[in-house]
Amino acid sequence: MSDTQKTATLTIGDQSYDLPVYSPTAGPDVIDIRKLYGTAGVFTYDPGFTSTAACESTITFIDGEEGVLLHRGYPISELAGKSHYLEVCYLLLYGELPTTAQLEDFETRVTRHTMVHEQMHNFFRGFRRDAHPMATLVGVVGAMSAFYHDSTDVNDPWQREVAAIRLIAKLPTIAAMAYKYSIGQPFVYPRNDLDYAANFLHMCFAVPAEEYHVDPILARAMDRIFTLHADHEQNASTSTVRLASSSGANPFACIAAGIACLWGPAHGGANQACLEMLKEIGTPDRIPEFIARAKDKNDPFRLMGFGHRVYKNFDPRATVMKQSADEVLELLGVENNPILATAKALEEAALADPYFAEKKLFPNVDFYSGIILEAMGFPTSMFTPIFALSRTVGWISQWKEQFSDPAHKIGRPRQLYKGETERSYVDIENR
Ligand code: CMC
Repeated sequence: MSDTQKTATLTIGDQSYDLPVYSPTAGPDVIDIRKLYGTAGVFTYDPGFTSTAACESTITFIDGEEGVLLHRGYPISELAGKSHYLEVCYLLLYGELPTTAQLEDFETRVTRHTMVHEQMHNFFRGFRRDAHPMATLVGVVGAMSAFYHDSTDVNDPWQREVAAIRLIAKLPTIAAMAYKYSIGQPFVYPRNDLDYAANFLHMCFAVPAEEYHVDPILARAMDRIFTLHADHEQNASTSTVRLASSSGANPFACIAAGIACLWGPAHGGANQACLEMLKEIGTPDRIPEFIARAKDKNDPFRLMGFGHRVYKNFDPRATVMKQSADEVLELLGVENNPILATAKALEEAALADPYFAEKKLFPNVDFYSGIILEAMGFPTSMFTPIFALSRTVGWISQWKEQFSDPAHKIGRPRQLYKGETERSYVDIENR
C-alpha cells in the first residue's frame, strides 16, 4: 500500500477519526477505512461497490469520464491496432511487453497446452445437447480441478503459473467443444500450426468431412474481440474470481465462479441479450417503441448494449469494435444486413434522445461484438462463452496478482442488518 501524507477526517457525533488517504498513480484518491470498525465501531455501506476499492492493482486503469482504458499503461486502441491477443496476455500476466524471445516462448507454452485430457470428452457427453454453452463451460472449467491435480496448489508459484497457462490455452478448446457438442458435430482437436484466434475458429467451424480454411480477416477480427475483452479492472466477474480465491480455492474453481458471474445479462450476457433485442426490434421503424419502453420506469426493459457502470462518456472498446464490425460485414458482403441497419438506427436514435444523454448511456463493447459474431456464423448462445474465454487472462492475471499483495486476506463484506432482533421460537400450534 502506498505511503500517505493526506488524511480524511470522519466525524460521528462528537468524535472525529482520522483516516489515511492514498494517492494512486492515476484515478481518484482512496480513503483507507480498514481500521474504521475497530476504532469507531461503524461499518460503511456501499451496495454495488460504487465507491469502494477492494484491492490494490497494477494491471488495468479505466477513466470512465474520459473513456480511457489502459492495460499496464498502454491504451486499448493501440493494443487492438498494433498488438495481438497473446502479446496482450503476456502483458497482463507479467507486466511488460515481451521481447521476441519471450513472446515466442510464451506462445509455445500456451500452444503446448491447447489439448484437454481425453477423459474430458466423456465428461462433456454427460450434458444435455441443448445445454447453454455457458452452463457447459462453468461445469467443465470447474471440473478442470478434477483433471489437473498438479496445478491446484495455490501456495506453489510454479503450479500457479502452470494453471494460468493451462486456462488460457484450454478455454478456446473447451468453448469450441461446448459449441460442437450443442450442434451434434464431432469435437475438433486444436491445431498448433494456427494462431490462437484462427485455431479457435477452426475448432468451431471445421468438420472432418472437408477442408476448412480460416480467413485471415476473420481471424484478425476474432483476435481483436479477444483483445478488447481481455481485462477490465475490478468488474463483477473479476471481483468474483478474487473473492473466490481469497479463501484459497483452486484456480479452476475460481475461474468457474468468474464464468458464472459473467453469464448474467447485466455483464457478459449482454452481447447475447443485445443481439436478441435487435432481432426482436426487427426493423428500424419499431425503434421508437423500444426506446419508449427503455425510458418507462414501470417497464423493466433496458436497451441491451447501452450503458456502463464506469464509462460515462464512451466505451473506448466500442469505438474499435465498431470499426471491426464494418470491416467484417464488408468482407462477408452483408453491409445490408437488417440487424446492422437496426443497430445503426438504434444507436443514432438513442444518442439523439435526451434521456440517454442525461444518464450518460452510450453503446458499449457488447453492442458491436454481437453483430460481428453473428456475421461470422456464431449462434447467440456462443457470444458469452467467447467473452469468457477472452476474459480468462484478465481473471487469471488478477488472481495471480493477489498472491503478491501483502494486504490480501479473505473477503468478508459486512451488512446493514434490517431484520428482526432476537425473539423466541414459537411452537407451531401457537403461530
Ligand atoms: N437502458 C435504459 N436505461 C438504462 C440503461 C439501459 N441500458 N442502463 C442504465 N439505465 C438507466 C437506469 O434505469 C437508471 O435510471 P434512474 O437513474 O432513472 O433510475 C440509470 O440509467 C442508471 O442505471 P444503473 O442501473 O444505476 O447503472 P449501473 O451503473 O448500475 O448499471 C449497467 C450499468 C451496464 C448494468 C446498465 O447500464 C445496464 O443494465 N445496461 C444494459 C446491459 C449491458 O449492456 N451490459 C453490458 C455492460 S459492458 C460489458 C461488461 O462489462 O460486462
